[in-house]
Amino acid sequence: MSTLLIKSGGAAGFVEWQRHFAELAPGLTTLFWDDATDADYALVWDPEPGRLAAMPSLRCIFGAGAGVDGITRDPDWPRHIPLVRMTPAGAAQRMAEYVGWAALHLIRGGRRMALQQARAAWEDFEHPSAPDIRVGIMGLGVMGARVAQVLRAMGFPVMGWSRSAKGMPGIAEFHGDAGLAAMLAQTDMLICLLPATAATRRILSAPLLAQLPRSAMLINAARGWHQELPDILAALDSGQLSQAVLDVFDPEPLPAESPAWAHPKLTVTPHVASLPSRRERAAFVAQQIAVLESGGTPAPLYDPEHGY
Ligand code: NAP
Ligand code: GLV
Repeated sequence: MSTLLIKSGGAAGFVEWQRHFAELAPGLTTLFWDDATDADYALVWDPEPGRLAAMPSLRCIFGAGAGVDGITRDPDWPRHIPLVRMTPAGAAQRMAEYVGWAALHLIRGGRRMALQQARAAWEDFEHPSAPDIRVGIMGLGVMGARVAQVLRAMGFPVMGWSRSAKGMPGIAEFHGDAGLAAMLAQTDMLICLLPATAATRRILSAPLLAQLPRSAMLINAARGWHQELPDILAALDSGQLSQAVLDVFDPEPLPAESPAWAHPKLTVTPHVASLPSRRERAAFVAQQIAVLESGGTPAPLYDPEHGY
């Protein structure tokens, strides 16, 4: 019988994981992170450094999220063990719903209307329509590709920047530094869905924001790692950015004293862009374990060479 050690959602979360795995993978024994030190598999978000490396039986690591930076920041994480990114079908769909909401919230003035409502002010205003707003998506991976499809279906002209070519119908693709500059120059709404790598750290900072047309809009649903928050606030104050929606911060939770909370042109959400249910995630892990135990290769795997 195989064992799965879980660190995601604390003790209360473990009770729920245990219930789902009992139904979905009856041959699997689930163990709470604080009660055991070794297992065949680990399901983790941010394990204490060194814990995974000290598990002699470990055969596969399952990230509790699509981004596995909470695992790979451990200098000792065992790189020879497959690390699976949590990507049930519902994850990309939820991300597309979040970015679709954020895009409409931006073009329809959602933040402005919320502030008006708070002071009982009946003030109408003109707004653009999706075909008027050129969207540039940084990252066309599991999340970005679905977001691109959904925004295009909503009527936005969509461009995307990635390392490799995708050939996505109706999406203008850009690659490399020159490609990024070319995309930014014609982007009215920039969306960040990049992984957290050395190359993408603080990419959303003043030099990049200055390459956007004046009054551009920004959505970051990837990681706080990608953004220089003071630069974004300064760009909102100067008018270089007209509005932004940020779901992710560094650190999280966003400190209560951060000026981001009250900024009139910024909508803050608490890292909720895509959070598939525990049931969906347990089903994904159970399916991947079945693949592994029948001699197959789970997917998608973190690639240590590329760092995502
Ligand atoms: P992914 O599948 O690994 O996709 C990453 C994309 O970025 C790929 O298209 C990749 O290009 C591109 N890329 C990476 N480095 C690049 C570079 N230096 N230059 C140009 N393009 C580059 O990641 P994902 O699963 O879509 O996740 C995207 C982000 O969303 C991650 O940061 C993840 O942590 C975050 N996330 C956040 C939430 C939330 O709730 N806020 C939920 C889920 C995920 P190639 O395709 O050519 O490799
Ligand atoms: C959430 O942030 C995830 O990476 O799935």
